[in-house]
Amino acid sequence: MKFLLHFPLLKGNNIRSKQTLSSKVTILVFSTLVVFMLTTISSSLFSYHSLLKINEYNKEVSIEFDDSLKNETEIMPSTTSVKKCDIFSGEWVPNPEAPYYTNTTCWEIHEHQNCMKFGRPDSEFMKWRWKPNECELPIFNPFQFLEIMRGKSMAFVGDSIGRNHMQSMICLLSRAEWPVDVSYTDEFSFKRWQYSNYNFTMATFWSPYLVRAEQVDSKGGLINVYLDEFDEKWTAQIKEFDYVIINGGQWFLRPMVFYENQKIVGCQYCSWENVTHLTWHNGYKKAFRTSYKAIMSVGKPKGVTILRTYAPSHFENGVWDKGGNCVRTKPFKSNETRLEGYNLELHTIQLEEFKRAEKEATKKGLKFMLLDTTQAMLQRPDGHPNKYGHWPQKNVTISNDCVHWCLPGPIDTWADFLLQTLKVEGVRSTPEKKDFI
Ligand SMILES: *[C@@H]1O[C@H](CO)[C@@H](O)[C@H](O)[C@H]1NC(C)=O
Ligand SMILES: *[C@@H]1O[C@H](CO)[C@@H](O)[C@H](O)[C@H]1NC(C)=O
Ligand SMILES: *[C@@H]1O[C@H](CO)[C@@H](O)[C@H](O)[C@H]1NC(C)=O
Ligand SMILES: *[C@@H]1O[C@H](CO)[C@@H](O)[C@H](O)[C@H]1NC(C)=O
Ligand SMILES: *[C@@H]1O[C@H](CO)[C@@H](O)[C@H](O)[C@H]1NC(C)=O
Ligand SMILES: *[C@@H]1O[C@H](CO)[C@@H](O)[C@H](O)[C@H]1NC(C)=O
Repeated sequence: MKFLLHFPLLKGNNIRSKQTLSSKVTILVFSTLVVFMLTTISSSLFSYHSLLKINEYNKEVSIEFDDSLKNETEIMPSTTSVKKCDIFSGEWVPNPEAPYYTNTTCWEIHEHQNCMKFGRPDSEFMKWRWKPNECELPIFNPFQFLEIMRGKSMAFVGDSIGRNHMQSMICLLSRAEWPVDVSYTDEFSFKRWQYSNYNFTMATFWSPYLVRAEQVDSKGGLINVYLDEFDEKWTAQIKEFDYVIINGGQWFLRPMVFYENQKIVGCQYCSWENVTHLTWHNGYKKAFRTSYKAIMSVGKPKGVTILRTYAPSHFENGVWDKGGNCVRTKPFKSNETRLEGYNLELHTIQLEEFKRAEKEATKKGLKFMLLDTTQAMLQRPDGHPNKYGHWPQKNVTISNDCVHWCLPGPIDTWADFLLQTLKVEGVRSTPEKKDFI
């Protein structure tokens, strides 16, 4: 089927991003910090999301809906075919079929991830799939996914990598259906999309610290993080969502002041002498603890919580604000790299807190699922925009982006992980295969 579509003129697309990058670029320097950049152009937590430019939507594009996958009706593998297999350990293998969309078929690729537009010369990075060591990981089938999600809703809570993930999902799902923008605000960090044919809703909630956070002053980098307080920007709405995919990481490596019980308990990379200096580890742990508590207490009674683990950045030849870059064009083999340093620590804490919360959730009859994407992404130093997230700017140094992921690109594999996890968990939890959740 071929359709000629007018992209809807979406509200709040690029009105707020008129300011040029250069006028907003302020690079923070923290001597003790090795790598903590979440975005190449961010100096401020609360103005960050308004900086990104979004593709022009009002274009005519010929979109081909792909029916060929529709007849693969088996939504769930049969109980017997679900072997125990760790899908998160494996290797990247060539996939000549990929990518499954391009920047001309999908309008939800934001400028900073539209690497091909800004002249990235190589394209091999789009042509890999993940091969678990002990089984196969099927390529995402948008029809199966939407069938499983019929009448349900999914929220992405966390930082801009979570948003990057949802954009990848929209592009992959576009083979089956385009969503309608049903956002309740113009802020593009709080988007809501509706798939009418399936009555499925997807939403992002931007909450890089997962708990309530507040900028101390507009210029400095210090952020107050209230480790035991819910971030109502998402917790107030989370009861509507059947699935909550939570993520977080890089922002905890920044200068911050930790609060508990409304009192300062310490700070990281601050110059205050009257306050205990703490590292992020404790804060990170507590932020996840508080988030799980929020989901379990104010979330949907039978909702499913999914942790999408930390995705490592890949700066080489320098730190992020000292010319560090990511110029590789091929994935690593699993034996060519190792999870270590703060990447390992972030991941370990995530798993510990996940398991801890899962135990409690199980008692309450709630379901937790793990998308342990860290190792797979560690093996993808080639998947970042690097300098191809914008045009080169004269006289302005913009740090390379080795944090976010090009679209199309390796982040599309998260959809493969997600669908497979939903299928396998669905079989495990429902032996008669009737009610999916
Ligand atoms: C599904 O359709 C495609 C093409 O439309 C065909 O090649 C394939 O064999 C079909 N698969 C099944 C399971 O019927
Ligand atoms: C898509 O990428 C091509 C390069 O492959 C570029 O020339 C074009 O401007 C991009 N289009 C959009 C809409 O981003
Ligand atoms: C759509 O799904 C919501 C739950 O997400 C449900 O309340 C509503 O009744 C459904 N609407 C239709 C038309 O099925
Ligand atoms: C620590 O000192 C700073 C000024 O240097 C002050 O603003 C802050 O309130 C003090 N904090 C505490 C907990 O005493
Ligand atoms: C890594 O494993 C591959 C086989 O998968 C092997 O060919 C290669 O030599 C190994 N490399 C290192 C550095 O051990
Ligand atoms: C860039 O810097 C050079 C020398 O510092 C100056 O002559 C030139 O006008 C600047 N260009 C722009 C576009 O600001």
